[in-house]
Amino acid sequence: MAAVRNVFLFLTIFLVGGPPLSCSLSDNEALLKLRQSFTHAESLNSWNQDSQPCAARWTGIICHRGVITGLHLTGLRLSGQIDIEALLELRSLRTVSLVNNSFAGPIPEFNRIGVLKSLLLTGNDFSGAIPTDFFASLASLKKVWLSSNNFSGDIPHSLAKLSYLIELHLENNQFSGKIPHLHQAALTSLDLSNNKLEGEIPENLAKFDANAFAGNEGLCGKPLPKSCDSNNAQISEENASPPGESQGSVSKLVVASLIAVAVFLVVVMFLSASKRREEKFSKLGREQMNEMVEVHVPSSGHREQLSRKGGDSRRGSQQGKGGMSDLVVVNEEKGTFGMADLMKAAAEVLGNGGLGSAYKAVMANGLSVVVKRIREMNKLGKDGFDAEMRRMGRLQHHNILTPLAYHYRREEKLLVSEYIPKGSLLYVLHGDRGACHAELNWATRLKIVKGIARGLGFLHSEFATYDLPHGNLKSSNILLSDTYEPLLSDYAFHPLINPNNATEAMFAYKSPEYAQRQEVSPKSDVYCLGIIILEILTGKFPSQYLSNGKGGTDVVQWVSSAVAEKREAELIDPEIANDANAVSRMVELLRIGADCTQSNPQQRPEMKEAIRRIEEI
Ligand SMILES: *[C@@H]1O[C@H](CO)[C@@H](O)[C@H](O)[C@H]1NC(C)=O
Ligand SMILES: *[C@@H]1O[C@H](CO)[C@@H](O)[C@H](O)[C@H]1NC(C)=O
Repeated sequence: MAAVRNVFLFLTIFLVGGPPLSCSLSDNEALLKLRQSFTHAESLNSWNQDSQPCAARWTGIICHRGVITGLHLTGLRLSGQIDIEALLELRSLRTVSLVNNSFAGPIPEFNRIGVLKSLLLTGNDFSGAIPTDFFASLASLKKVWLSSNNFSGDIPHSLAKLSYLIELHLENNQFSGKIPHLHQAALTSLDLSNNKLEGEIPENLAKFDANAFAGNEGLCGKPLPKSCDSNNAQISEENASPPGESQGSVSKLVVASLIAVAVFLVVVMFLSASKRREEKFSKLGREQMNEMVEVHVPSSGHREQLSRKGGDSRRGSQQGKGGMSDLVVVNEEKGTFGMADLMKAAAEVLGNGGLGSAYKAVMANGLSVVVKRIREMNKLGKDGFDAEMRRMGRLQHHNILTPLAYHYRREEKLLVSEYIPKGSLLYVLHGDRGACHAELNWATRLKIVKGIARGLGFLHSEFATYDLPHGNLKSSNILLSDTYEPLLSDYAFHPLINPNNATEAMFAYKSPEYAQRQEVSPKSDVYCLGIIILEILTGKFPSQYLSNGKGGTDVVQWVSSAVAEKREAELIDPEIANDANAVSRMVELLRIGADCTQSNPQQRPEMKEAIRRIEEI
């Protein structure tokens, strides 16, 4: 068993935070957003809506083959804020220079732009201490110029870990403390002059010119003329303390060891916290971008190539050692692949859902898949699970996302399906990336509602005997194709999920009938459909999706009171409400949504009737 447990599947995870970035700002929009955060941006008048930054040679924009690689805004008297979110939209940005401007305040979060090679902030009024791990996420940095600002505190120790660092200019600040051990071989240009640094200059920095260290009264050692030995106060910690000073040194020692213990505790706490974080698969922060991390997906048995065709021959041996580590392909539409392909794939954390965590993996053959890890799916045994997955794998409908493969272990299941680049309806509706909304006009929204209704109609006939043919309909489980055709996912899980977890993980259990009488039925899917309709029409995030009900809009309450007062039109998302010809149809759809979310299931239309009314619009 130990050997079995020790075999891990390594997915190399390329970490990025948040949902798939299918809906990003254009370069033009991102730069205009950046300019908005500046004050005194008159010098950037060449930046305007109707031109393209590279083609129109916007001031300060450096391009390479038509993509923006640099932002060089030097000597423009700029001040105000620096909108890092906007900079993050410029995917190929490698150098940022804001030399000789009037930016002030603490160092902005440039460390979220993990791919930067040059960060040049010389000649501004930045101030305050820089967090010691600030540069940890900027592993590609070659040039760091922070000179002629008013930075204080220690020189960040993370600078010592930048393997490619060539130029480090920190002169004319208020940096204090000791010089960290900068032992990068590539470092050829160093200036630490005119700060408040103290202690011995590390030996390997002695090769630099004395000017690089001038103007720091407390520094000693080569290349400075001041030797450290001549001054007891500057004795380095490694040296034995001279007699007569022992008392002071002892208390220094006590303080030092207390600090060491504290640092150790913080590190331990941090490590265990980050371990816990990994275990919970919470969304990973963007600051870790560019960091290659291995996520261990415990797998049992040997790493075997997947045997391909349908499971019949293998099913007999699935209880055996080898079969358990396989992926079982239930839908060959996208070709066949095995655990080995997944293991080799570059993967990316997409985030957490109610059921577990999800990763995107791009396999060698170019196929992008989503791998969901689900723990609480043991209501059926292995054979029953297999039968359900195969049944799902055979589904064919325009609005249904058919799973591709699964991996079964008692503690955990992996479900593999195709990756849909545009992302979920939730993301497209509420993601704050603006640009998407323009396409979400009334016609698109109606198309989405109709597609959802058709997909649901299909599930309700296919799984007619289930209490909950879908069971987990919500905007995060509806994916959108490039043409905004909705694809339903995470359906028909009701027979699989452990009952205790189903109430937490499946949205149908948030229906009023479950809250009041602990009952669910196909009418609960009707309720979920109603929530989606209201969400799409109002553009509001329903509070119903949140387990504590805090945040979002109670769309059910909001719409039902508006319907009662015949002022439905006021609730329509302003982005579509100006389509005057369509308002009466929008109101009609809103009423269907209101009927579907009646708290008494008997007062809701049957699924078939709801679909018929939607199709009529
Ligand atoms: C910034 O200003 C200083 C002092 O005016 C000048 O010497 C330096 O060349 C300027 N740097 C850039 C990159 O414009
Ligand atoms: C720089 O910061 C120090 C405090 O760290 C402050 O006393 C000083 O006035 C600042 N200098 C400038 C020029 O802003």
